[in-house]
Amino acid sequence: MTGISIIATGSQPAAQVVTNDHLAKLVDTSDQWIATRTGIRQRRFAGPEEDTTSLAIGAARAAVEQLEKAGRGREEIGAVLVATFSPGSLVPSTACLVQRELGLPEDLFALDINAACTGFLSGLRLCQGLLAQQPERLALLVGAEAISRLVDFGDRGTCILFGDGAGAAVVAAGPDRPFFCAFGTRGDGEVLRCPGVRPGGGPGPVTMEGREVFRFAVDAIPKGIAAVLAQSGSSLWDIDWFVCHQANARILAHAAKAMGVPEERFFMDLDRYGNTSAASIPIALDEMAKKGLLKKGQRLMLAGFGGGLTWGAAELIW
Ligand code: ACO
Repeated sequence: MTGISIIATGSQPAAQVVTNDHLAKLVDTSDQWIATRTGIRQRRFAGPEEDTTSLAIGAARAAVEQLEKAGRGREEIGAVLVATFSPGSLVPSTACLVQRELGLPEDLFALDINAACTGFLSGLRLCQGLLAQQPERLALLVGAEAISRLVDFGDRGTCILFGDGAGAAVVAAGPDRPFFCAFGTRGDGEVLRCPGVRPGGGPGPVTMEGREVFRFAVDAIPKGIAAVLAQSGSSLWDIDWFVCHQANARILAHAAKAMGVPEERFFMDLDRYGNTSAASIPIALDEMAKKGLLKKGQRLMLAGFGGGLTWGAAELIW
């Protein structure tokens, strides 16, 4: 299969910083409860002028600016994919609005995708397929969410987890950059739900059986990673960074321990962003790139899990 490489990244944090103490004024909770159970210290909520579309555009613009600084052009982009379960607009799709705002070519493939928190990884798999057909073009992949608009602030076990934001990556075909991935779906409609358009109501709220999600996640991460390693022939020790969906520090610690991998090789920024679903992995990649943590040639293992129940993992070379 065609290799792929991420050649530029960008992110757009939502405007409002909401600390645990701030949330404790709205919800019967405390900084101590949230921090010890989840590792989250603060998250960001979309401001009055923001929604998933504006966040997606901000992240995409940052990635495209970086692409152009590296001497490539936005006219090379042949696909825009936006992973989200909280779109600001159903029609037009967020991807079409990104195309317009960034002045991208009209002869491109534009599509929103929903695989909940696994969405960015599913998007990478689609980029691989699209770039196999058009290796001379680039794909712009965005993960964007405004989940604060879909939570019930009366449900303290759920609303404290989520945050808003967007991350983006420009993906190129990479003959010398093998890409291996594995995905799965359990088809569960109870454990994690967010109702859509329905009689007498708009979308939301997100509901979750926290302990079941926890159990699912700590199983899904090692399972996904093992399936990818079986394809690539790499070992856990060949992987420089594990960049997982940022849901909960305890989930990631549990997965690291189960695989016998030092926790330090699991990047975490959920203390500052909370769980931003499809946006969490591209925000993490952009943050790591900006901090100089990612070096050319390093091997990354990405892993996601979420509503569906879906899971996925992918190994790529930076
Ligand atoms: N503040 C204070 N107390 C709380 C809060 C809160 N925010 N939420 C729940 N509690 C209370 C409960 O009412 C309960 O009290 P009781 O014992 O008096 O009845 C007690 O804390 C324990 O509740 P549990 O729900 O059993 O708490 P648990 O230890 O399971 O932690 C949590 C809850 C943090 C949600 C945990 O289950 C978890 O992390 N689950 C995974 C959730 C997750 O990451 N979801 C997203 C992944 S998928 C995706 O990204 C879409």
